[in-house]
Amino acid sequence: MPPGPPLPKAVQTPLQWLARPWWMAAVRRRYGNVFTLRDQISDTGDLVVLADPADVKTVFTGSPEVFHAGEGNAVLGPLVGPHSVLLLDEEEHLRERKLQLPAFHGERIAQSIDLMREATEREVGTWPLGTPFRLLSRTQALTLDIIVRVVLGVDDARRADPLKHALRTVLEIRTPHLLMWLHPGLARIGPWKRLRQDIARADALLYAEIAHRRAEGGLEDRPDVLSMLLLAHAAAGDDVDDAWVRDELMTLLVAGHETTATGLAWAFERLLRHPQALERVRAGLGDPRDPYVDAVVKETLRVRPVIYNVARVLAQPATVAGYDLPAGTVVLPSIGLLHSDDAHFPQAAAFRPERWLDGSPEPYTWIPFGGGVRRCLGATFALTEMAVVIRTVLQQVDLRAADPAAERTKVHHITLIPAKGASVVVERRRRPTGPGARRAGAPAPALAT
Ligand code: HEM
Repeated sequence: MPPGPPLPKAVQTPLQWLARPWWMAAVRRRYGNVFTLRDQISDTGDLVVLADPADVKTVFTGSPEVFHAGEGNAVLGPLVGPHSVLLLDEEEHLRERKLQLPAFHGERIAQSIDLMREATEREVGTWPLGTPFRLLSRTQALTLDIIVRVVLGVDDARRADPLKHALRTVLEIRTPHLLMWLHPGLARIGPWKRLRQDIARADALLYAEIAHRRAEGGLEDRPDVLSMLLLAHAAAGDDVDDAWVRDELMTLLVAGHETTATGLAWAFERLLRHPQALERVRAGLGDPRDPYVDAVVKETLRVRPVIYNVARVLAQPATVAGYDLPAGTVVLPSIGLLHSDDAHFPQAAAFRPERWLDGSPEPYTWIPFGGGVRRCLGATFALTEMAVVIRTVLQQVDLRAADPAAERTKVHHITLIPAKGASVVVERRRRPTGPGARRAGAPAPALAT
């Protein structure tokens, strides 16, 4: 095994779970770009961390029969269900992924830009003037609103609101921790019972939407992901039951909203502490092709990655980074370590969107969405949504940070959030908000790619 700290598992596990960025950066300083951490949660107890682009490439381009991602996500099973693309591996995974990919192509996503902008205008219209609030809570509500509309095609608030409420309840409790210990014996007590009830409530609403869509017909003319999935299954000759479709929808709703909400909160947290960058975004608001906002999005996801590592479980023995690793080892291509390496990003700790205007970084150095056959299905969607939301918010309001000090990074399950939830104050409204307030024919924002 690669070298690593000699501390016992009982010490390393909480460090890894609670202080990931600090702990992993410290271990890299001591052991370099390949090291082993010990952990109580994985089967073999060995996590091999990879922070050299060549080794990350080995994993991302390696055989899906060797590098399993689904196995590592099993803890999400009770929430996303057995048909979830997150949980599958090999053939089954590729098949499911291929069915969903067309729904996330650039031109499909471009059709959702108006919806994203209108949802943002509505949301910003509810923000208080002059009082600090946690922007992260608001971006969570906003990205949930957007993903529910895009995935389910629900416009009617009477149907969308109960579903959003049920989903937030499921996600707000410490879901991964609870799910880890969720087994039939526990299901009848306390928080686990509540969790099951909350999931059941969300499920009932999802099943109602599936039934509604099947009954209504006319799927070809509908832009939502649910309609596309039903058509794709039909074309593939699948006898797809509602439980399967439910798993697909739940996966997209869960994977697609909290991550994007966190990325957005960090984008504002960083921008409000970099007045020159903020000014530059503002200066480009009238030009839908201005590349600067896309640079801000990429730089935010680099300097404050939402997810610090991706994981693959070795289904067979494999040679990685020159080490012969046994089956069962977990390898972790480290997004956070790559992104914070001065060798790939000069002055890596600095927030400098300009660096994205001069070209692209070396392959396998910027990987906020993971890579290979498991790369985030919603990457283009997320990049587009972040750019649209940033532009729309800044067109509507002037914000300032509630406290000028930078917010620390806090580990929140698998995501890394701003410790104070990106606390902000609205100083001034720039234009009337609310439905219908946007000028007809206002320029469309640049499309991130
Ligand atoms: C800023 C926002 C987002 C970030 C940082 C992010 C990040 C990630 C990462 C790191 C992975 C794992 C990749 C790997 O293992 O190599 C992933 C997978 C995934 N993401 Fe995202 N994601 C975001 C937004 C979204 C959105 C908006 C959607 C859907 C609409 C989505 C759907 C998925 C799905 C379905 C997978 C599983 C892909 C597979 O296993 O084949 N994500 N995402």
